[in-house]
Amino acid sequence: MKKRLLSGIQPSGTIHLGNYFGAIKQFVEMQDEYDSFVFIADFHALTTIQDKEVLKSNILDVAMDYLACGLDPEKVCLFRQSSIPEVAELTWYFNCITTMPFLERATSYKDANQKAKDVTVGLFDYPILMASDILIQDADIVPVGADQKQHVEYARDIAQKFNNIYGETFKLPEVKIIKEVAIVPGIDGRKMSKSYKNTIPLFGTDEEIKKAVMSIVTDSKTPEESKDPEKCNIFSLHKLFLKGDELNNLRKRYIDGGLGYKESKDILLNEIINFISPMREKRKVYEKDEDRVIKILEEGASKVRIETEKKINFIRTQIGINI
Ligand code: TRP
Repeated sequence: MKKRLLSGIQPSGTIHLGNYFGAIKQFVEMQDEYDSFVFIADFHALTTIQDKEVLKSNILDVAMDYLACGLDPEKVCLFRQSSIPEVAELTWYFNCITTMPFLERATSYKDANQKAKDVTVGLFDYPILMASDILIQDADIVPVGADQKQHVEYARDIAQKFNNIYGETFKLPEVKIIKEVAIVPGIDGRKMSKSYKNTIPLFGTDEEIKKAVMSIVTDSKTPEESKDPEKCNIFSLHKLFLKGDELNNLRKRYIDGGLGYKESKDILLNEIINFISPMREKRKVYEKDEDRVIKILEEGASKVRIETEKKINFIRTQIGINI
């Protein structure tokens, strides 16, 4: 039997090349190996997004992004977290066995606190909600970015504590760190990240992508001068798209001189547009048919609901409120 994989994705707006090559690609590749459950973490998003129109469109956007990137609803159960309100119920049960000092050690909370933001109870409780997501589905394996590792460890600790108090109820999940196979540089050479505003959008218009590519920072060498490809931000991005001879030929042109940065950017722009064009076509189909996206999410939810209801009933029995 295949192991059960579960992961949540935040509906946090436009995705970029860094997201794709850093994580989404691997995520899509895992769908064959595991019995996969992927959900859009809209309950978690409420800790940061309080505009209903923004939240609604972000939810559909992230669903379309992942579908367009190759997540296959035939293989993966894709659903909204809020379609399974039992996770909120389970969060309460876990709240009642979790101490404040234990949660105060969570880096997500510490970070927010340090930035002197007003920390809501929801943000403080974030790791518990995440533990509920994971444990209610009996997940074997939880692929996440390194920043989420501690949260999966929380889920294990909470499962263990619950099992100790009420008897064997939850499986202990394993974390699988999605390593950033490629650190994708942004247009300023720092890691591509929304917070640095240096991204190249994955599903932007040609104009948006062009604007980003043309603003990639370079030194001021003339086209004739020899250039070091390994020190060039444009070249680092070429590496994502070109392999073998194609890459070597370009490398040689850098070293020999005669290739200007403008030309290198034009070539890169072409590579990007060619690469994303099939995904873009796929996304357009979903954009035109939002109902189909909603249906995919609904079907995903109905599949998980059957088991989740059984599980929550068992949990209620374990804690003594299922009379
Ligand atoms: N907190 C995760 C993130 O920000 C999203 C998430 C919510 C999640 N619940 C989860 C990931 C359960 C894995 C399992 O990326």
